[in-house]
Amino acid sequence: MPATLRAIQADITTLAVDAIVNAANNSLLGGGGVDGAIHRAAGPLLLEECRLLGGCATGDAKLTRGYMLPAKYVIHTVGPVWRGGSHGEAELLASCYRRSIAVAAENGLGSLAFPNISTGIYGYPADLAAGIAVAAVIAATRARPSVGEVVFCCFSQSSLDIYENLLHA
Ligand code: AR6
Repeated sequence: MPATLRAIQADITTLAVDAIVNAANNSLLGGGGVDGAIHRAAGPLLLEECRLLGGCATGDAKLTRGYMLPAKYVIHTVGPVWRGGSHGEAELLASCYRRSIAVAAENGLGSLAFPNISTGIYGYPADLAAGIAVAAVIAATRARPSVGEVVFCCFSQSSLDIYENLLHA
């Protein structure tokens, strides 16, 4: 059965899925945006576990527990900084979604929520990023059928509109 893909407008820190995905940076030691919100909501033990991970390459993903979050786990991934589109950004962004789903599958996690990786501080155009996200998630969940539910968690109405158009196309 194909995975269920949904878009909602929410604060990702409120979602009780198996894992929420964090749009982190290479240090994995916290930051602003959704990263800051996740660390605040999870509490200080999340940073302690992140310190043990030795950072994360752009396009890769690493797992921690969720601590005080309603989600059981956090998958930390690092999106590309938008530099005009000709520096491998699309492939790196697709890799974030693919690797996050692979990490979920390898750890028996069936439901995931993604923020709109790279579209805030990292400047990736929202419509381009959403097209890559949906295509990468469809392909990756076909390869990893144990991941049965993926939520695209949008922070703004405009971002939700983009995802709804893509998912209902
Ligand atoms: N729930 C869901 N989405 C959110 C939330 C939230 N609570 N807060 C923000 N967003 P960004 P990036 C949306 O900037 O572009 C950090 O400092 C936001 O509206 O969080 O990948 C890291 O440490 C946007 O659509 O991540 C890195 O240094 C999306 O989440 C850097 O930012 C991503 O925006 C990563 O930048």
